[in-house]
Amino acid sequence: MTTGNPHNALLLGIDFGTSRTAVMSNRKFKELIHSVVGYPRDIIGVKILNRTQVIGAEALDKRSLLELHFPLENGVLREGSEKELEAAHELLRHTIELAEPRAGEKICGVIGVPARASVANKEQLLKLTEGLMDIAMVVSEPFMVAYGLSKLTNAFIVDIGAGTTDICAMKGTVPSVENQATILKGGDYVDELLVAAIRDAYPTAQLDRHVARRIKEHSSFVGEPGDPIIQILRLNGRPTEVDLTDAVRATCETIVPDIVEHLKRLLLVFDADHQAEALSNIILAGGGSRIRGLGAMIGHHLREYGDVRVTMVADPDFSGAQGALKLAMELPPEYWNQIGDVIGTVG
Ligand SMILES: Nc1ncnc2c1ncn2[C@@H]1O[C@H](COP(=O)(O)OP(=O)(O)OP(=O)(O)O)[C@@H](O)[C@H]1O
Ligand SMILES: [Mg+2]
Repeated sequence: MTTGNPHNALLLGIDFGTSRTAVMSNRKFKELIHSVVGYPRDIIGVKILNRTQVIGAEALDKRSLLELHFPLENGVLREGSEKELEAAHELLRHTIELAEPRAGEKICGVIGVPARASVANKEQLLKLTEGLMDIAMVVSEPFMVAYGLSKLTNAFIVDIGAGTTDICAMKGTVPSVENQATILKGGDYVDELLVAAIRDAYPTAQLDRHVARRIKEHSSFVGEPGDPIIQILRLNGRPTEVDLTDAVRATCETIVPDIVEHLKRLLLVFDADHQAEALSNIILAGGGSRIRGLGAMIGHHLREYGDVRVTMVADPDFSGAQGALKLAMELPPEYWNQIGDVIGTVG
């Protein structure tokens, strides 16, 4: 394969996620941005902020002044209104600007999106890059993770994101729809269940899903508990110590059965000769891969299938963007249309 960057372009690897967008460039730029755009609710907001839009973490912080738009939902681009598409476009523009393109240089980007969006919305996603990139390719994110790890054959990628969990059986080619599965249970789903479980145990507790998410990210686990998870919550307004061990465990474990069932089903897409190797290459990615004990529990449920090895990527925040950048750097843009869906040309 020819490698290099024949056009001296700015090459970008972007992982466009439901909750966060990661970007890396061939000039070693690396950033993680919350996938949210906020527009001031009224003229007072415009006056206080002195801007007509706010992107990323700042938008979440100032959400009382803003109407928030999260461009992806349940693993697909929201296409309901012009505003949603504008928010997605602005988010991409911001992401690219952060990477500091130089005047006049070509911008070539590989964009990893949830597997479902790469099927449902790819044309719309490519259109969003018009005017922002000279050439853009949209590919499914689990494939990007596999590419980054050079695990392109006889492996499973299980990408546990905020909106969805994507499972992909890698068979040495760009995965077809039959070799992928999308489960609409990711971190957001766990957060919602955790809010309900805590309210169930402590009916007077005041919390929303942002608080639940913080608790989860701090203490998520499945299987045997370690130290009890003690948090201070306001019960009827009064700060009180509560034990959330059972609630965290039960809600985190809700994602396991679907993952196991889809792994069993997708195992059959490999020839019998390759199944043992695939089972020794189950790789967890995405923020949810940080749930303690998850790999061991998945392995346990698959114990009748022989030796199973479940590992997690070293850097769940950037493994998709890193794979996208690697592809952008290894494959000259004129060949991109052999891998994914492409818009634009270079040269
Ligand atoms: N330690 C942790 N334990 C459990 N979940 C975590 C942890 N850290 C992050 N997460 C969850 O991971 C999710 C974010 O993961 P990621 O950044 O991979 O998602 P995304 O790419 O934005 O979403 P998607 O792939 O669905 O579009 C959030 O739901 C977050 O709460
Ligand atoms: Mg993701």
